[in-house]
Amino acid sequence: MQNFVQYTPTEVIFGRGTENQTGAEVKKWGGSRVFLVYGGGSAVRSGLIGRVERSLKDEGIVWEEFGGVHPNPRLAFAEEGVRKALAFGADFILAVGGGSAIDTAKAIAHGTANPEEKLWDIWTQKVPLTKSLPVAAVLTIPAAGSEMSDSAVLTNEAIGKKAGINTPFNRCRFAVMNPELAATLPAYQIACGVTDIMMHTMERYFIPGIQCEMTDCIAEGLLRTVIKNGPKVLENPSDYDAMAEIMWCGSLSHNNLTECGRGKDFSVHKLGHALSAKYDVAHGASLAAVWGSWARYLYQDQALGRFTQFAENVWGISGDGKTEEETALAGIEKTEAFFRSIGMPVSLSQLGVQPNEEDRKALSLDATMGDTVKLTRIRPLGAKEVGEIYQMAM
Ligand code: NZQ
Ligand code: ZN
Repeated sequence: MQNFVQYTPTEVIFGRGTENQTGAEVKKWGGSRVFLVYGGGSAVRSGLIGRVERSLKDEGIVWEEFGGVHPNPRLAFAEEGVRKALAFGADFILAVGGGSAIDTAKAIAHGTANPEEKLWDIWTQKVPLTKSLPVAAVLTIPAAGSEMSDSAVLTNEAIGKKAGINTPFNRCRFAVMNPELAATLPAYQIACGVTDIMMHTMERYFIPGIQCEMTDCIAEGLLRTVIKNGPKVLENPSDYDAMAEIMWCGSLSHNNLTECGRGKDFSVHKLGHALSAKYDVAHGASLAAVWGSWARYLYQDQALGRFTQFAENVWGISGDGKTEEETALAGIEKTEAFFRSIGMPVSLSQLGVQPNEEDRKALSLDATMGDTVKLTRIRPLGAKEVGEIYQMAM
């Protein structure tokens, strides 16, 4: 087991009706002027924004609304939020929504606390982030895990780049999680969320050469829980118990718990972010479209033991009468079959994009930061190898 630091400071308020506690929570964490960030309207239509605002009012908290966050949220929109939050005098940034609203809220918190700096300079760590405003979330979609993660992702549309920043200042003070709020989700968004939750665990799982039984058991149990309950919530998004399992898995998959003693990789996310930056495709779908090719490219040699363990412990595939390679491949095939069964693409054409050779080269350069960064902790992949994975995924 490798040395590690486990720091997950977000207070979780989980269960039915918990959005009505939002005002009291904001007050508890010192907020009095709330900048309220949300998406394209689902939270208004469901009446959630109204309930959250009532709970703020009950605590004597004033607020300003900032709706309209786009999925794959944009830098320019966050910059507009910073200007408005400064003019309003916000001392607390509250997101109501999913990863896109929460990440925009995190960006606004950083920008508002550092008005002399350009937000993209903070994002790309050209200037160090040493202070921010408090952020919190009322979660409406189990997916990105931003409600407990130390990361946030924005797209800089001017340069066509989607990039994340990891910092303790990205940790929400609290996260309200009521699985009932996810009952209005369209099936495609549920499937994208299920995929993203699995991927956050798998991006930490396939790192070879490290003995880490406890973390493996947590990761495998989490994956089995998502595989069991994902189809149930797709069938019936109002199945409270199944949605509760998925929502809790979403947070635990990305709050660092599944990397303790093992670390993380996140190379599939690099490939997916390049696709989302270029084609504005949904995050979870971008990951499903390339994962199988990524896995087939890497499963042999030193990673073989991880892939066979995954096949056996996550999918219950018996290794009896099979070579290790056959067991590992059976696990990859099962995973792709699961993605297909929930309506996710397992190729770029199913994702609806057809990058030609030149496009694939540009995607590979984007994913590897101009071929300066080697991806994966299985073996180092540069732009050439990443281009081969994109080609396999066609
Ligand atoms: O905008 P509205 O109208 O709210 O609609 C949203 C949006 O269209 C809809 N939605 C959300 N909750 C709903 C709902 N519709 C009906 N009922 C509800 N209860 O779902 C759509 C997707 O929302 P979004 O916030 O984009 O989804 P998600 O949570 O998947 O977030 C994706 C973003 O998070 C980033 C992704 O890259 C992407 O930009 N990620 C953030 C991470 C982090 N901060 O830790 C980690 C992830 O790996 C990921 O990269
Ligand atoms: Zn993700």
